[in-house]
Amino acid sequence: MQILLQVQNLNKNFGEMKILKDINLEVAAGEFLTIMGQSGSGKSTLLYCISGMDRATSGTISYDNLDLAGLPDAEMSEVRLKHMGFIFQHSYLLKNLSIRDNIILPGFKAEMVPREAVVENAEEYMKMTGIDHIASHTINEVSGGQLQRAAICRALINQPSVLFGDEPTGALNSSTTEEVMDILNAINNQGTSIILVSHDAKVANRSARIIYLSDGKIKDELILGAYTGPDAAREEKLTDWLNEMRF
Ligand SMILES: Nc1ncnc2c1ncn2[C@@H]1O[C@H](COP(=O)(O)OP(=O)(O)OP(=O)(O)O)[C@@H](O)[C@H]1O
Ligand SMILES: [Mg+2]
Repeated sequence: MQILLQVQNLNKNFGEMKILKDINLEVAAGEFLTIMGQSGSGKSTLLYCISGMDRATSGTISYDNLDLAGLPDAEMSEVRLKHMGFIFQHSYLLKNLSIRDNIILPGFKAEMVPREAVVENAEEYMKMTGIDHIASHTINEVSGGQLQRAAICRALINQPSVLFGDEPTGALNSSTTEEVMDILNAINNQGTSIILVSHDAKVANRSARIIYLSDGKIKDELILGAYTGPDAAREEKLTDWLNEMRF
């Protein structure tokens, strides 16, 4: 098992407030992990620290054998651009650009492959997520679900080894959530690691492993195994566990 991300003794303070307390976590390459917990428990803070969007107060974060926490800002940004993808509740796509141009932009910026290859990859991802027919629309001419699919395509454009998402389906209705999760499961099955933060048991049910954060600490962990489709026993196990957590 290849370790993609290793977090050791991670602490994060905001002023006097201790938000993350001695977090230790390992994520294997190809894993699909969901971070759950009450509002204010530190889920987003943890995601931002482990993805290099924010700086930890202390502790080490090793990403693909790279000392992420020790990197200067410019190098950290480069690792994020070239090796990580991000999807949020409201993904901030640029208003005056088409869906296609929003997707290819980080690819042009990273300059990892020729521009023609970036455009080809974008077309492929738009087909995969079912938005190729709206590629030329601007972002206010598409639905919320289509926008989130575009955000996934953009997050994938540099073929990252890991996708991070903070409530990526938080603004979607339940059937659109299912469709977006189908796409994320397919991406994970192709080998991309996924780390999500979610309040939604339906989302967590799609991941192989769930950690539960309480007051800035990892309180418990549930291993469900790879998602292979709807499974009542699996859902029941997750529901029981969440009840035990008083969630
Ligand atoms: N930039 C900041 N400055 C000061 N305090 C912060 C900052 N960001 C987060 N916090 C505090 O840290 C704690 C954890 O916040 P965080 O956003 O990680 O929670 P969360 O688990 O993601 O909650 P939610 O489910 O509501 O999104 C909260 O008490 C919050 O007020
Ligand atoms: Mg949050």
